Amino acid sequence: MRSLISLVTLFVTLVSAATLKVRAPTPGSLSQVTSFGKAPTKAAFYIYVPKKLAESPGIVLAIHYCTGTAQQYYNNSPYKTLSEQYGFIVIYPSSPHSGTCWDVSSKATLTHEGGGDSNTIANMVLWTINEYKADKSKVFVTGTSSGAMMTNVMAATYPDLFAAGIAYSGVPAGCFVSASGGVDAWNGTCADGRVNNTPQKWAQVVFDMYPGYNGTRPKMQIYHGSADGTLRPSNYQETTKQWAGVFGYDYEKPESTKSNDPQSGYTRTIWGPKAQGIYAQGVGHSVNIRGADDMKFFGFA
Ligand SMILES: *[C@@H]1O[C@H](CO)[C@@H](O)[C@H](O)[C@H]1NC(C)=O
Ligand SMILES: *[C@@H]1O[C@H](CO)[C@@H](O)[C@H](O)[C@H]1NC(C)=O
Repeated sequence: MRSLISLVTLFVTLVSAATLKVRAPTPGSLSQVTSFGKAPTKAAFYIYVPKKLAESPGIVLAIHYCTGTAQQYYNNSPYKTLSEQYGFIVIYPSSPHSGTCWDVSSKATLTHEGGGDSNTIANMVLWTINEYKADKSKVFVTGTSSGAMMTNVMAATYPDLFAAGIAYSGVPAGCFVSASGGVDAWNGTCADGRVNNTPQKWAQVVFDMYPGYNGTRPKMQIYHGSADGTLRPSNYQETTKQWAGVFGYDYEKPESTKSNDPQSGYTRTIWGPKAQGIYAQGVGHSVNIRGADDMKFFGFA
């Protein structure tokens, strides 16, 4: 009888734990959300809700690199610590593809509501805004390498969701295209820095991902290393051209260029209030995350 009671207790505990997993992620630990509305792709949704959640919290979407996972980006990026400091929620999507790069190549993912990974991730953000009554004006996106490519794609396909984006060592949105429609395809031409467009052409690539959209767009900050052998350094120029072009800034005439900013060997160029880049001299793939600076750019600090 006693063992039956403990068995029943165990069962009830397990069931409520399973329910909790969906309904209320545990504050202070990385939790998976298994049901969040439409998920056209199998990207997994992990969330970190801080123990000290702000009232009407902000959200940072933090996207991992190839070979990485949500768990790894949670471990190896500063956002969970910063989340406790500022009270925002962090969303860590996890790639469903072999090799765990993100799909930044298919027409589906490069289209607003197109049914690709960008669509699935946008639905994670919408679920979180709704579930936590988050402040819609404080939703941000960042990522490293493949996650930086996806950051540019999210900013291009869901400009209405994000107030700002920071890309660490990626490529422009719509540069890693697969001509044959491949999902999560490698694009060597883009990686090698052999896709060169005008700011206007790159801007059009962004506009075409959400035709007819005329609302505000996130301000963007682009980091890249001058010794990047994986995604060649000219991807820095191409990506900054893209966002300067989107906002109609004159790429040839930036507002300011400052050496040794934010640190020795880095150069910050500001094209306008919504587009800036930081070129890291001698740094390979990828530039280290600068958490405190990210907080300033996002407006938390
Ligand atoms: C790589 O992307 C470019 C656009 O940036 C595209 O023109 C080219 O066809 C793509 N390559 C392949 C093999 O799909
Ligand atoms: C922006 O788009 C909306 C919806 O398509 C439309 O109603 C509105 O007139 C557009 N505004 C401008 C300034 O083009």
